[in-house]
Amino acid sequence: MGFLPVLAPVLRTLAAALLLLLVRPGLFAQTLREAAERRNFLVGAAHNGSFSDSTYLETMAREYNQVEPENATKFQPLRPSREQFNFSVPDQIIANAAQRGQLVRGHTFIWHQAVPNWLANGTFTPAQLSDILREHILTVGARYRGKIYAWDVVNEAFNDNGTLRSTLWYDQPGIGRQGTGYIEQAFRWAREADPKALLFYNDYSAEGVNVKSDAILGMARDFRARGVPIDGIGLQAHWGLSNQGSIASLDNNIRRITDLGLQVHITELDVRVPVNAAGVASAADLAAQATLYRSVADTCLKYPLCTSIQTWGYTDKYSWIPGFYPGFGAALPMDAAFQPKPAYTAMRDALLAAPPVDRPALPAPIELPVIAARGLVSAASYQGSAVAPGEIVVLFGATQGPASLLTALVTGNRLPTDLGRARLFFDNVPAPLLYGVKGQVSAIVPFAVATRQQTVVQYEYEGIRSLPVTLPVVEAKPGLFTWDASGKGPVASLTASYVPITREAPIDKGDVALMFLTGAGQTGPVGVDGQIVSSTPLPVPNGIVTATVGGIAAEVLYAGGAAGLVNGGIQVNLRIPSNVGSGEQPVVISVGGVASPAGPTIPVR
Ligand code: G3I
Repeated sequence: MGFLPVLAPVLRTLAAALLLLLVRPGLFAQTLREAAERRNFLVGAAHNGSFSDSTYLETMAREYNQVEPENATKFQPLRPSREQFNFSVPDQIIANAAQRGQLVRGHTFIWHQAVPNWLANGTFTPAQLSDILREHILTVGARYRGKIYAWDVVNEAFNDNGTLRSTLWYDQPGIGRQGTGYIEQAFRWAREADPKALLFYNDYSAEGVNVKSDAILGMARDFRARGVPIDGIGLQAHWGLSNQGSIASLDNNIRRITDLGLQVHITELDVRVPVNAAGVASAADLAAQATLYRSVADTCLKYPLCTSIQTWGYTDKYSWIPGFYPGFGAALPMDAAFQPKPAYTAMRDALLAAPPVDRPALPAPIELPVIAARGLVSAASYQGSAVAPGEIVVLFGATQGPASLLTALVTGNRLPTDLGRARLFFDNVPAPLLYGVKGQVSAIVPFAVATRQQTVVQYEYEGIRSLPVTLPVVEAKPGLFTWDASGKGPVASLTASYVPITREAPIDKGDVALMFLTGAGQTGPVGVDGQIVSSTPLPVPNGIVTATVGGIAAEVLYAGGAAGLVNGGIQVNLRIPSNVGSGEQPVVISVGGVASPAGPTIPVR
């Protein structure tokens, strides 16, 4: 037992460390994001719109709770031509952010750069330009309502001397407003497009108190006084080491902006340093850079209304600086190998050391649609718990969707896979859709699931996907369609001369009835997703099809696709047994030995 006295201090230290860990979880925050979220704070990075570098994406998801398209929501990338909006990259950035609980900033409705040629070289009157700008802001702002929580509505509208920059939007030819009138109009349109998004004016070289930031503050004060919807000022902070002396001025500027009740976002922070031909900076410069990152962060974090620090990119692997400032680079918190630099540690230390301030609650994350596996059932029998290839199904209960019922229009002999921006994926394959409305979407299970034991289902609305649910795949799950679409009672059926068979018009014994089912599984030729059958050979279920009526075996004359039916819909022609009882007789169709559920009947005279 002699070793105990030696061991005791060690044990006490370990116990203290463990206790510290338990009582101050943030102390050992491993990421910028964890450190930021401890303080109700947003740490962001501009997203370069590329999805090919998994390390880039994974690191950004781990370290940041905010992203902003570096370019994808600028006028030119969004609007390559007047008729065309290109939303694909912003949609993907937003969809990825939504899955990771990240918030998204938008950048920027109005800027004198990133203007498409059709606009820059056009000969529009101010009234025409005003219409174009209004259409742009209302279209883009509405599309991203609830998905982009803050917009740089207007970017870089002032010259360094505090005058308004001469631009297409102001006076070349402008949209017909005087002074800051076009900026005010843009903010009003942005509010009209999105009643909730935070609306920012964003600029560079106006981080400290100077003639430019005076002009911006003057505009903001005027806007606030007149009820023009503005929520904040973005300070870009594209800095160099010489800005070490700018901190006191930054402090004063943040104070006077937030004293107006406006938020401040540091929107594009990077600190460029001299680099050699290989892009390597000196240790001394990286240390000085870290000091500046720390000072910016400390200063912002003092103010409850300084709510976000975003760097313009986050890894030196992707940065605009080297191309724009030859001989400079290494401007961001992580190096080109995604390793933290002193600047990263400085930012995290600032977040960990930040005084607790009464900061506004973080904006709500992008709401994902919610679905449940049990909500996916046969469109005929409403039986769930599994799906069959080509099965016509209904997803009930999705929490988001089109406000009014949308019915699929067949084009090119195919059903669409998108109805009002609602889509249903099976293993990432978008399924053909029959109709859709919030809470009820009908689709056809892609035949490709035939080779799998299970399928991963995701519902997507307006580009945002639900969390996945997994369902077993079965070879067949037959369900008969009934006249009242309840899955019970008289089947939707016709006599051989296409007369509907109903309680009022029952079928005679010995006659042939035509009825319809889904869930027969894979067919030969193999089913074609969403295609309307229009030619032979008709698709016939791989499984043997048998039938009983009133419990008596019924001769199946035909079972398979039919002209006008979509692949996955099966017509069954069967003869009513001559010895069956009269009245409503239960009908059961089996495919490959799997029987349709009880409930459907056929009225027999
Ligand atoms: O995507 C096209 C590509 O298809 C084409 O082949 C290529 C060559 O023409 O151009 C590509 O677009 C480039 C785009 O970046 C994406 O890489 C544009 O030419 C290029 O001008 C654009 O530069 C961006 C610049 O804004 C102008 O929009 C920079 O990446 C971006 O970092 C910079 O960001 C600005 C902020 O928006 C506002 N504050 C200043 C900041 C730095 O300039």
